[in-house]
Amino acid sequence: MIILSVETSCDETSVAVTKDGKEVLSNAVLSQINIHEKFGGVVPEVASRAHIEYMLHIFDQAIKEAKIKIKDIDLVAVTKGPGLIGSLLVGINAATTFAYANNLPIIGVNHLIGHIYAALIDDEFIFPALVLLVSGGHTETLLIKDHFEIELIGTTLDDAVGEAYDKVARLLGLAYPGGPIIDKLAQLGKPIYDLPRPMLHSKDDNFSFSGLKSAVLYLLKDLEKENIKYKNEDIACSFQEAVTDVLVKKTKDLAKRLKVNQVIVVGGVAANSGLRTKLSKEIKDLPIILPKIKYCTDQAAMIGIAAYYQYLKYGTKNLYNLNGEPGLKINTI
Ligand code: KG4
Ligand code: ZN
Repeated sequence: MIILSVETSCDETSVAVTKDGKEVLSNAVLSQINIHEKFGGVVPEVASRAHIEYMLHIFDQAIKEAKIKIKDIDLVAVTKGPGLIGSLLVGINAATTFAYANNLPIIGVNHLIGHIYAALIDDEFIFPALVLLVSGGHTETLLIKDHFEIELIGTTLDDAVGEAYDKVARLLGLAYPGGPIIDKLAQLGKPIYDLPRPMLHSKDDNFSFSGLKSAVLYLLKDLEKENIKYKNEDIACSFQEAVTDVLVKKTKDLAKRLKVNQVIVVGGVAANSGLRTKLSKEIKDLPIILPKIKYCTDQAAMIGIAAYYQYLKYGTKNLYNLNGEPGLKINTI
């Protein structure tokens, strides 16, 4: 089954062609980072306009690179949320029009479920599995019992971890998005500053990163007040150590408690080198899926892979369902 998928939930305009929920025939991605960089974050209105401008080019590129004809496509899939509403609308309009014009069925896919299914591009699920989903908008642990049987367990009470990375980068005067820059600096620094590990020993499964970001702010203020020279590398390294300590310990403990057979780490922050190294060092008794870096951040291939399994289970129901998400239960266990 050949699926053409579209992802425009934030600032990446992406169209992919995937085959049978596994093979990526093309994955055209146009990042708008250079446009939003000067604003220090994504400007929703600017993002929507850029999606409109790039969309048709990215459609053409994806179809050309996949070396398919439009008549080979069996299904169209599109990210329906969560995300910036203006951005989502551009993708949904383009995908719906394409499906209608070519008499193809279309389904809407949840962006978070898309991130999880990026794991299947190079690996297989071993159910039940624990997912750690870390991105610019989300910090979640989820239990995946079977295809589209997913339960949300823990979440962030305030900032998402990627958001905290981007905010700390801004405090250090670095460009947007700050996550990859802090990651690079951290590898050159030493963890010499003692920063808090929020919720490390909390009884629940939730996270919180806004206090850690404030701790960096006060640390910088103190150092500047006392005229103490510091290196951005050391601040970045100390921050990254604190973040990864929390993410890895909570994931490890939860995996043990839930008796899962696998740990899956996805989303933009799954590209983080410190997190990848610490996870592999700390969780030795379970297989871990860490997708290739290019499949951690937003792109349409993950939507195409998820769409295949969603279609097998639900057909074309729920393009814009408003009564809950197919396959995703929000309850605590
Ligand atoms: O999944 P994603 O592309 O978009 C969302 O759905 O949010 O994630 C983007 C986030 C940004 O906050 C970015 O700073 C962060 O992922 N990120 C990283 C790294 N690469 C991307 N954070 C830490 N280390 C990285 N290497
Ligand atoms: Zn995302």
